[in-house]
Amino acid sequence: MKPVLAVEDLTVTIGTRRGPAHAVAGVDWAVQPGETLALVGESGSGKSMSVLAATGLAPRTARVTGRVHLLGTELTGLGQDRRRRLRGRHIGFVFQDPMTSLNPVLTVGRQVTEAAEEHLGLTRRAARSRAVELLEMVGIPSAGQRVDAYPHQFSGGMRQRVVIAMALACEPDLLIADEPTTALDVTTQAQIVELVADLQRRLGTAVVWITHDLGVVAGIADTVAVMYAGRILEQGPVDAVFGTPSHPYTEALLAARPDPAAGGAELVTIAGAPPSPLDLPAGCAFWPRCPVRGDARCEHELPPLVPVSAGHQVRTFYPQPTDGERR
Ligand SMILES: Nc1ncnc2c1ncn2[C@@H]1O[C@H](COP(=O)(O)OP(=O)(O)OP(=O)(O)O)[C@@H](O)[C@H]1O
Ligand SMILES: [Mg+2]
Repeated sequence: MKPVLAVEDLTVTIGTRRGPAHAVAGVDWAVQPGETLALVGESGSGKSMSVLAATGLAPRTARVTGRVHLLGTELTGLGQDRRRRLRGRHIGFVFQDPMTSLNPVLTVGRQVTEAAEEHLGLTRRAARSRAVELLEMVGIPSAGQRVDAYPHQFSGGMRQRVVIAMALACEPDLLIADEPTTALDVTTQAQIVELVADLQRRLGTAVVWITHDLGVVAGIADTVAVMYAGRILEQGPVDAVFGTPSHPYTEALLAARPDPAAGGAELVTIAGAPPSPLDLPAGCAFWPRCPVRGDARCEHELPPLVPVSAGHQVRTFYPQPTDGERR
């Protein structure tokens, strides 16, 4: 089966006044049809930039290298227009702030099907009834009336539902959701996560979900890639990565997870800070913060990504023992 979206050795280097910033320093991942890939990792690890670059949306100041395949078609080297059309037809986006995706002076009905009109050649009238259908699908009450309302007449959660309807209007093969619930209250967050999971089951859409919330990942993802300083430190099936984390960074992230039983307070944070993308170290980027760091090798030599079990890989010279061995 061909992956919906696959990146190979993707790098993104952004020119800044202080020199080149290595936002993404060589990542490989793929999302299979109907599956959810979660990208996790601390702020600045390159999660957003890797999906933006993969879909041709990196800033103009960025230099992107590597290979990207969308449904088997190599995107690298395609013209802007062709890439834009492929993206519009096959990928839907949901970002953190719904207002960045919505036009305040257009009714939600017009916006939901704007792209679909272009890509599917719908008439205005067909588009309106399709808009009502889509708004119903994402759980907007009284969709028949709300279709003529403007974004400011909706709550934050309802706006994000509208954006999801917009993203799904062209029946994309892939939905990219970049922290889609961060701006919402906890109850609404859970509803949006549930909505996307339900739509995915019904429509068979593949999803790339970027989040800081490892609880959500455990609930909805099939595979997970843990990013740090522009690289993947651990990736694989979510059960394997969370059940038997092999990289000390993954272990630390899991330990720093807020405990709902303790009222959701952040209990542990990882001491230290990631390196600057302007000055990535030659060796393991996590080395200065690593609790099990070994020797000069970690400092000077980049550990390769090595397999630990089926589909589960880790980038460290010191893979942690499996659960069975440890406990
Ligand atoms: N336009 C830009 N110019 C220069 N550097 C940038 C630009 N956009 C992002 N970066 C840098 O690229 C790196 C990766 O950024 P990215 O936005 O992908 O991180 P992220 O993992 O999505 O973080 P967050 O969780 O905060 O969204 C960061 O170090 C960031 O500072
Ligand atoms: Mg981001």
